[in-house]
Amino acid sequence: MEVILQPNSAAAARLVAQLIARELRANPHLVLGLATGRTMEGVYQLLVAEHKNPGLDFSLCRTFNLDEYVGLSPDDEHSYRHYMNRHLFGQVNIDPRNTHLPNGQALDLEAECGRYEQAIARFGGIDLQLLGIGRDGHIGFNEPLSALRSRTRVKALTPLTMTQNAAFFGGADRVPRRAITMGVGTILESRRCVLLATGKDKAGIVAKAVEGPITAMISATALQLHPRCTVVVDEPAASQLQGADYYRWIFDNEPEWAGFRSPPDHH
Ligand code: F6R
Repeated sequence: MEVILQPNSAAAARLVAQLIARELRANPHLVLGLATGRTMEGVYQLLVAEHKNPGLDFSLCRTFNLDEYVGLSPDDEHSYRHYMNRHLFGQVNIDPRNTHLPNGQALDLEAECGRYEQAIARFGGIDLQLLGIGRDGHIGFNEPLSALRSRTRVKALTPLTMTQNAAFFGGADRVPRRAITMGVGTILESRRCVLLATGKDKAGIVAKAVEGPITAMISATALQLHPRCTVVVDEPAASQLQGADYYRWIFDNEPEWAGFRSPPDHH
């Protein structure tokens, strides 16, 4: 695992967007795993800007989202399909047929989960999986006690997650109770993982995810098993990390990050 500290949330989002843009330029057929949520909005905004100028090309890129609520139609403004169309797909030159989310309205949800896994496999697996983290340590909707080898399946949302997402739905009681999510095992199979966490609300869980023992109670700790996982945090989210100085030293000395170390602009 590699931890990159950035001064603020804008700089953290910029670094993640630059990383995705670099991978997409290197491989136009990139299979990109995507996440939704507040944290990702800044990243998608920057990718859209990068598409408009200097013309980052999404035409051959394929995407798979981590999750979708059960029961919501793609047109529902609260669905993750709607979120993706609004924040990214509708604003770049991606072919809608190349964008995949689980179908939360499938009649046979279990079959839909199997179909989703097969679709990922058919495209050769995910090259880069973008991840956020919930305050209970979930990645995707892998809530506490998700098996570390779990596959795409239906999960019940915890009360904490429902509270976290309540604002979008106008009350916790309106948040759907279940979602289809890639499993922890599915996520671990992607060739590269990039987790972005910002804000002091995430400081406690980030410290546990990065420096705590691996446990199914905190799904994000499973990323410690991943051979190529980069965690990007802003200073508030990094405030409880014991090894912050060491992580800064690695970032300042690791050749891979040479192009990313330019001082942040002040716009
Ligand atoms: C959503 C997802 C979730 C979020 C997490 C953080 O697709 O995978 O794991 O990344 O709940 O959400 P925000 O960014 O809203 O704090």
